[in-house]
Amino acid sequence: MKQLKELEKLRQEIDIWDKKLVEAFEGRMKVVLKVLAYKRKHGLPIFHGKREEQVLQKAVGHLQEKDFTEEIQALYKEIMGISRKLQSKHLFPFNIVLIGFMGSGKSIIGSHLSQQLAMELLDTDRLIEQKMNRSIKSIFEKYGEGYFRRVERDTVKALCQEENKIIACGGGIVLHPENVRDLKNKGKVILLEASAETIYHRLKEDTTRPLLEGQMTKEHIASMLQDRKAYYQEAADMIIGTDKKDIKEIGEEIIFKLLSLCASSDIGGRR
Ligand code: S3P
Repeated sequence: MKQLKELEKLRQEIDIWDKKLVEAFEGRMKVVLKVLAYKRKHGLPIFHGKREEQVLQKAVGHLQEKDFTEEIQALYKEIMGISRKLQSKHLFPFNIVLIGFMGSGKSIIGSHLSQQLAMELLDTDRLIEQKMNRSIKSIFEKYGEGYFRRVERDTVKALCQEENKIIACGGGIVLHPENVRDLKNKGKVILLEASAETIYHRLKEDTTRPLLEGQMTKEHIASMLQDRKAYYQEAADMIIGTDKKDIKEIGEEIIFKLLSLCASSDIGGRR
């Protein structure tokens, strides 16, 4: 009985600290939004890796019991991820949809943006592979392209409900006009462009693209690019060239252009 009372008392103590934690968290998030509004107003860069590093170090410095160093670092990494996510939600209240030819960098840029903006990445090819429990190559081999396109269409339909996600699309998604319509409905469509030369160099050792199998040549890539050019351009809200640029540069350019797009149409920052 006495033991139980002691435990109850300790639990009440935890409740008091939790209340303080929640208050502190709420206060912090409100200031994060004020900082965001200030940066937007004055055209300052939004995401700042160095500042996050400083915040982490300061937090560790505030510790009285150094035993908790590892825990406070884990907590702050989480808090900063949450702060980034909160900012992204306010800045980009839509899906960021990446389209473009095979090898244009949709998956790798998608994963970089996902990390930078703390937004979840959905990759249509990976979703199809999970659903079918087979690689894209094996789906093409066993069922053919027509079947793959139908599964791809169903995948886009299912994605229609998503919000605040980064969606990396298979290169042929734009061939179906209803896919484009659905993706644009809740998202801004970003076309990643690359020359046939660049694509060839990026993919020449690749064996996972059925449409390039046995015809991995610059000429074939150039001809497919030409056939699809109008589809890609028609679908795009924004076009980003990726030739001779690194991932970080492309990511920064996308964020910068999205912010300009939001500023001009007054989408971002209203929630
Ligand atoms: C395709 C592109 C591939 C994949 C499939 C068909 C296409 O995706 O969906 O092989 O028609 O361009 P990536 O663009 O991610 O390679």
